[in-house]
Amino acid sequence: MTSNHHQSVMFTESIDALNLKTGGIYIDATFGRGGHTQGILDKLDKSGSVIAFDQDIHAVEFAKENFNDERLTVIHSAFTHMGEILSERNLSGKIDGILMDLGVSSPQLDNADRGFSFNSDGPLDMRMDQTSGISAAQWLENADAVEIANVIYEFGEEKKSRHIASAIKRVQQDQTITTTLQLANIIAGVVRTKKNKHPATRSFQAIRIFINQELKQLAETLEQSIDVLAPEGRLSIISFHSIEDRIVKQFIQKHSKQKQLPKGLPVMNSDIQQTLFKDLGKQFASKTEVQNNKRSRSAILRVAQRTALKERAC
Ligand SMILES: C[S@@+](CC[C@H](N)C(=O)[O-])C[C@H]1O[C@@H](n2cnc3c(N)ncnc32)[C@H](O)[C@@H]1O
Repeated sequence: MTSNHHQSVMFTESIDALNLKTGGIYIDATFGRGGHTQGILDKLDKSGSVIAFDQDIHAVEFAKENFNDERLTVIHSAFTHMGEILSERNLSGKIDGILMDLGVSSPQLDNADRGFSFNSDGPLDMRMDQTSGISAAQWLENADAVEIANVIYEFGEEKKSRHIASAIKRVQQDQTITTTLQLANIIAGVVRTKKNKHPATRSFQAIRIFINQELKQLAETLEQSIDVLAPEGRLSIISFHSIEDRIVKQFIQKHSKQKQLPKGLPVMNSDIQQTLFKDLGKQFASKTEVQNNKRSRSAILRVAQRTALKERAC
C-alpha cells in the first residue's frame, strides 16, 4: 500500500521565516503532501495565495484530491521553471516569499516502487518526475566506471566511489542491475560503515541527486529568485545535506556582501545599496523535533530577505 504521510520538517520555523503578510503571494516550491502549503494558507486571508510546484505527479494528484482551496494553484513542474512560469503570469517581482523543503518526501522514500530505498526492493528508478528523464538503472547501464565514480564521489562524498563503480561494472558483465537491493548489496560488498548507517546511504544519495539534477536545479532557481521576489520578499530554504546547504549558503553570501570599495574613495549611494539579499541566518531543528522525526536531524533552514532595491549589482 502507498503511504501518503509526510511529516513536515521545521514547520513553524520555516513558515515564521517567511514573515507572512496576510494578503501576500507565496511559492511553495516543493509541495510534497502540502504540509507547509497548508501552514501558509492558514495564515493568509482571502486575498492571499500560494502557488505550489512539485515535479512528482503523485504529489500534484494528492493536491487535487485533498486540497480544495481557491487560493492555491498547484503546478506539475520542476521548480527550475519558476521564473518563466511566473513571468507568463505577470508575477515576476511580486512574490512575497519562497519556501523550499528540498529532497525527497516520505511517500517517495517509503514506496519501494519509486526506487529510492536501499531497505526494500523495487525497480531502480529514483526519478522524482517519472514522466521524463532516465532511471538510475538506465544510467548505470550506460555510464562508464569513471562517470559513475565521479557522481558517487561528487554528490555523495563517498571515499570508496571508485571501488563501488568497479564493482558495479564487474557485476554488469554477467547481469543487468535493475533493482534497488541488487545495487545496495553490491555497495555493501565494498563499503563498511558504522552500525546505524547503511553502506549504500551515500551512494544512493549521490545517484538520486544526479538523476534528478538536484543541485543544478537548486542553483538555477536561487538565481531566478532574484527577479521573482518582491522587495523584502523572503527565501526560506530547508536543505538536508552539506552539499545542498553549501549552494544555498554561498548564494546568500554572494548576494548579501557589500562590495569592497577601494580605500580613500568617496562612497556613492549606488555603491552602498548593491546587495540583493540580507542574510537572516540559519537554524536547526529543535531537540524535540529531532526526537520525534529522525528526518529533521540533518535539516538546515537558511533565511534571506530580498533587499528593496530591484537593480542587479554589476
Ligand atoms: C521534502 S518533500 C516536501 C514536503 C512538503 N514540504 C510537505 O510538508 O509535505 C520534497 C518534495 O519536493 C519535490 N521536489 C524536489 N525537487 C524538486 C524540484 N526540483 N522541482 C519540483 N519539485 C521538487 C519532491 O518531488 C517532493 O515531493
